[in-house]
Amino acid sequence: MSRPVIFLGYMGAGKTTVGKAFAQDTGKRFYDLDWYIETRMHRTVRQIFDESGEEGFRRIERNMLHEVAEFENVVVSCGGGTPCFFDNIGYMNSRAETVYLKATPEVLFEHLKMGRTVRPLLLGKSPEEVRVFVREQLEKREPFYNQARHTFDVSLLDSFDKIKSTVASLREMLGM
Ligand code: S3P
Repeated sequence: MSRPVIFLGYMGAGKTTVGKAFAQDTGKRFYDLDWYIETRMHRTVRQIFDESGEEGFRRIERNMLHEVAEFENVVVSCGGGTPCFFDNIGYMNSRAETVYLKATPEVLFEHLKMGRTVRPLLLGKSPEEVRVFVREQLEKREPFYNQARHTFDVSLLDSFDKIKSTVASLREMLGM
């Protein structure tokens, strides 16, 4: 049985889109960590942030990460913050093939601006505040993301064809 593949990276990098396509192509089960948390906790990520604060969310996130990383033959997309708390990145590297989906702050901002999902960390911010926030937070988070076993640049990922070729390149990179 093969080790899990875990995609990580900043919000808006396309972790869910790439993870789902990669799982489909390789015949593995796909788990989005945020969705898994919501199903297991019977609360949305936003509700968890509201009721338990970010600290409460991070504790739950770590526990749920440990659950999904124990599954076999799975592809997991984690949240943008997952690798940056506790020893999550060390744990992920010990269990899985980790892939940092890397994009520039400008690309991430464009994706987040278009995205309709409500992200607790971006709530109430103007577009300009989001732009600054993304740049500053990415700088703090990259030391964690850079510890992934593999890095793959997704800055140019904007069409279905490119997702297909991205999946093919990822398979080659991971020898799968
Ligand atoms: C977060 C990213 C979100 C979600 C939560 C916190 C973060 O996931 O886990 O809102 O700290 O970057 P996505 O990266 O899938 O949006």
